[in-house]
Amino acid sequence: MATAKKAAAKKSTRSRATPASKTGTPDAIKLLTADHREVKALFQQYQEMVDHEAEDQEKQEIAEQICLMLTVHAQIEEELFYPAAKEAIKEPDLVNEANVEHASAKDLIAQIQESDPSDEMYDAKVKVLGEYIDHHVKEEESELFPQARKAKVDLAGLGEQLNERKQALMAEMGLGMEEEEEAAAE
Ligand SMILES: [Fe+2]
Ligand SMILES: [Fe+2]
Repeated sequence: MATAKKAAAKKSTRSRATPASKTGTPDAIKLLTADHREVKALFQQYQEMVDHEAEDQEKQEIAEQICLMLTVHAQIEEELFYPAAKEAIKEPDLVNEANVEHASAKDLIAQIQESDPSDEMYDAKVKVLGEYIDHHVKEEESELFPQARKAKVDLAGLGEQLNERKQALMAEMGLGMEEEEEAAAE
């Protein structure tokens, strides 16, 4: 069990989007898509931990990372990407639907953050959140993003703004520092 846990915990969940602008920041869609991949990897890591009966504390660390990442991702979409897309795309209703889906996801995120893995519903909540996000991501990537790419949205400029806001929010939440903390703890 210990080996499996360690392997799961060490597995890198970071992905890098291909830079698209002169400053090296990915455009808005590439940045958001890279976030989607990163959080999907975390959900898979969580499921492996469930399968290997990892300790509660390890599972909780991943679940909390998922919740924080999704919170930041939803916030930058709602503050920056969705309003820009809504103005430009053919079907602005897609953005309304996405906002409604965010609200439901946030409700589940709050439930996860308020409980811990000793709760027998904890794994189920994380799993359902993963399925829910999967569905939401599919709609964004198959409908909203292609429409935004077709429309006159400044994806490069928006990518810079999203990146800046994301870094600021992650710093506020203490994310993006796990590596230093891990190194210090070892
Ligand atoms: Fe979204
Ligand atoms: Fe998204």
